[in-house]
Amino acid sequence: MGNKRAVVILAAGQGKRMRSDLPKVLHPCAGLPLIGHMVEKALKLKASSIVVVVSPKDKRVEAWLRATYAQANLVFAPQPQPLGTGDALKCALKAVAKFSGEVLVMCGDTPLLGQTTLNALMRRAQGKNLALLSTELENPHGYGRIIRDGTSAREIIEEKDATKSQKTIREINAGVYVAQSAWLRAALKKLRRSNAQGEYYLTDIVALAAKTGPVGILKAKDSHEMLGINTSAHLQEVEAIFREKLIAGHQAKGVVFRDPNNTFLDAQVKLAKGTVVGVGVQIYGESTIGADAHIDGPTFIKDSTIAAGASIHSFSHLEGAKVGKGASVGPYGRLRTGAVLDEGAKVGNFVELKKTRLGKGAKANHLAYLGDSVIGEKSNVGAGTITCNYDGGPVKHQTRLGENVFIGSNSTLVAPVDLQDGVFVAAGSTITQSVEKDSLAFGRARQSNRKGYAKSLRKKIKEGR
Ligand code: UD1
Ligand code: CA
Repeated sequence: MGNKRAVVILAAGQGKRMRSDLPKVLHPCAGLPLIGHMVEKALKLKASSIVVVVSPKDKRVEAWLRATYAQANLVFAPQPQPLGTGDALKCALKAVAKFSGEVLVMCGDTPLLGQTTLNALMRRAQGKNLALLSTELENPHGYGRIIRDGTSAREIIEEKDATKSQKTIREINAGVYVAQSAWLRAALKKLRRSNAQGEYYLTDIVALAAKTGPVGILKAKDSHEMLGINTSAHLQEVEAIFREKLIAGHQAKGVVFRDPNNTFLDAQVKLAKGTVVGVGVQIYGESTIGADAHIDGPTFIKDSTIAAGASIHSFSHLEGAKVGKGASVGPYGRLRTGAVLDEGAKVGNFVELKKTRLGKGAKANHLAYLGDSVIGEKSNVGAGTITCNYDGGPVKHQTRLGENVFIGSNSTLVAPVDLQDGVFVAAGSTITQSVEKDSLAFGRARQSNRKGYAKSLRKKIKEGR
């Protein structure tokens, strides 16, 4: 039809029922604030404008959106007073005064709403002033109920205004509407606050539209999609369903979960096919796992990139790390921000890395702390090695190892220090000076053995001398 489209997200309500200082729509569901979920949906709808109605008293929602969707050209419509959803939409349309076309309205608190459902609703709205989304709920308490007139909606009655018999209606209003802007602008002017909550109810436009012709209803089969979050308990309920759906989506693309009920994924996590996710794995934030990787549980991974064929073994903790192709971490590996493992590198048990790059095939197999360092290809860091990167001052010092460097066990590398290619450090060394290519560094007291001394020492001790 070539009809222009605007998407409006209502998000200026206080969310009092959450009993939280954080605005409701900033509460995260699977790692992304509720409002983020809604904007993601809006971005896929090819709208000419996306308008978010926000409260001018609390700038946090707007600030988060501006920082997260800087590219998206969102329009922010302030709603001076939270006078209800009808007033909120009025404020939205004022912010895009010149817009004419189709308006899709969503609330800020329904993250399970599916893209297919939204598309179907827009089709249902064609040729009508208004169409809305409904579903049947086992427990409709708290939602607006739909009073039907055959296939059309006659009006919506809010829970607080409903009679006893109206409360038995199980078909509810999902709070998603598609309307024609010219008609909508006129209808909103007619709203009054004569209801139980003294608010301008957006839902009252339904009765107004019914006077002009049929109001389209799209009754969704999957009622989960319509769940709106009003309380902390709702959030938990919705988040559990969201995670289930996420996992099902990954399964369909060839990811194997050993125990889906014991796997936690954030919405933005990307998993490639063939990857096996063990029991008790948590993957959060902006994390990407390549094809055929192995993630054993329990393991915590946040904001990290793991390349194809890599293995993360049990009890590992990764945050802000990059693990290369076929590289291996753990069990009990700890990769902190800026840890980078190149292809085939290996970090073993009780090894901690921070701002450190392990080159191709390099290894730190046991008990080590490597901070602010660069470890060259095929170098081997022995058990108990520590980089002393911190002297209490403002800057952390760098440790650099070339290729094929061998660090004997229990060595202390006092940064800044530079060990060139092929260097060999004797076990137990304290290295305070840089070492040239292919040199042997020996930084410990020489051992001296005294024949028979142990025997006479014991005798002295016994006699108390
Ligand atoms: C609303 C509907 C109800 C529907 C339900 C679906 C009305 C009157 N009722 O009720 O029929 O079943 O959603 O989830 O519309 N908001 C503002 N400004 C305001 C008030 C609200 O921006 O002044 C925003 C909120 O931030 C929220 C959305 O509008 O994102 C819905 O508000 P909420 O208070 O959650 O409405 P419900 O009582 O759930
Ligand atoms: Ca709601």
